[in-house]
Amino acid sequence: MLRGGLLVVIATCVALTAAVETDSIKELLKKFDSRYSTNVFEDASLNATELITKYRYPVEVHTVTTEDGYILEMQRIPHGRDANNNPNQKRPVVFLMHGLLSSSADMVIMGPGSGLAYILAEEGFDVWMGNARGNTYSRKHVRLNPDALLSTAFWKFSWDEIGNIDLPTMIDHALKTSGQERLHYIGHSQGTTSFFVMTSLQPEYNKKIISMHALAPVAYMAHNRNPLLMFISPHANNIENIANLVGVGEFMTNNVIYSWAGQAMCRDEVVFQPICSNILFLIGGWNEQEHNATMLPAILGHTPAGSSLRQLAHYGQGIADKEFRRYDQGSRMSNYRTYGSFKPPHYDLSKITTPVFLHYSDSDPLAHVNDVDRLFRELGRPIGKFRVPLASFSHLDFLYGINAKELLFNRVINLIRAMDANAFDD
Ligand SMILES: *[C@@H]1O[C@H](CO)[C@@H](O)[C@H](O)[C@H]1NC(C)=O
Ligand SMILES: *[C@@H]1O[C@H](CO)[C@@H](O)[C@H](O)[C@H]1NC(C)=O
Repeated sequence: MLRGGLLVVIATCVALTAAVETDSIKELLKKFDSRYSTNVFEDASLNATELITKYRYPVEVHTVTTEDGYILEMQRIPHGRDANNNPNQKRPVVFLMHGLLSSSADMVIMGPGSGLAYILAEEGFDVWMGNARGNTYSRKHVRLNPDALLSTAFWKFSWDEIGNIDLPTMIDHALKTSGQERLHYIGHSQGTTSFFVMTSLQPEYNKKIISMHALAPVAYMAHNRNPLLMFISPHANNIENIANLVGVGEFMTNNVIYSWAGQAMCRDEVVFQPICSNILFLIGGWNEQEHNATMLPAILGHTPAGSSLRQLAHYGQGIADKEFRRYDQGSRMSNYRTYGSFKPPHYDLSKITTPVFLHYSDSDPLAHVNDVDRLFRELGRPIGKFRVPLASFSHLDFLYGINAKELLFNRVINLIRAMDANAFDD
């Protein structure tokens, strides 16, 4: 009697366990294919390539060496996972370029369904992600050591070099490898600045770009409201001297401290979260409405990804000067030696004949509406200017925003499709 009862109990347990197991496997699979990260702490510790692999997307790693010796890493998602996943089909190429202190991880960190790179791959594009010299993936040089104690030689570059040298090198490689003649370009923040540098200094590159989509475009910074950059601005020409004295040319790499902060202070239940958010959002602006706090550890595992002090100083010069010029070398004579003029030359925006679309928002502290308007007026071939239909949308929301797909990416994709269809008409 007792024995029989026990058996029934055991049998029931086994049946229940089995039911629970199949349910949890189903649940797990559902989670895995959903829009969201399956584990934010794991995602914080994986690099871009590992992340893409984890979410079962195809990935290729490409490295190129620039004419001045920087070794840059790009990642490519050649096709989709669930849709548009025939590897033998030729697709239009979209090249993605990250912003200041960021990396290609920006394009995938929010997970499938939310990360721009995944969405584009599902929509039928061959997706290439660039990395600027000096960040996590491109902190290498044939000769110079980024960690040299007594020399900042590796770090003597601003976004002028990123636009003038890195972008053309990476774009040429993407075109050659994919067998395409032209591509679409999407840049965020400094990824737009560097595009304007490339196409104004080397106008022949306009021919290689079918369309350019500028998310949070930054060229003029006369109305900048970013506290950190405003603080730097008056000292922009001295920053480098100070840096040379102390032997640092790098600014805020994604070091142990930041990763530690991410793990220890940025969990949902921990009271420090507002503080921890501010470290990052001090630079990019803060918007509670579009910010997914659960994702912070993952974001902080990848950003800040490192950049040179000159990149910040160059923006600082633009704020002080209210113009869009090449890097001020600090003295009239060194400007003369570099540029043949005492003042650094303006970037000639009228030379940019790529069809350009600007996507901006009302409350972006780094890409103020008035500065965006001026940029639009001066570009050689501005086609469209689109305000994100959410007033609070901020600088980082262009990639991390909870509703970035609905508010922004869908429109960008429609524009790319339209431009691609007409690509050979002009
Ligand atoms: C925020 O991110 C977490 C983890 O990826 C996800 O589960 C959650 O649904 C997201 N919240 C929103 C509002 O998108
Ligand atoms: C990313 O991870 C892969 C696999 O573990 C590794 O081979 C590669 O070197 C890593 N890349 C970087 C830039 O750390």
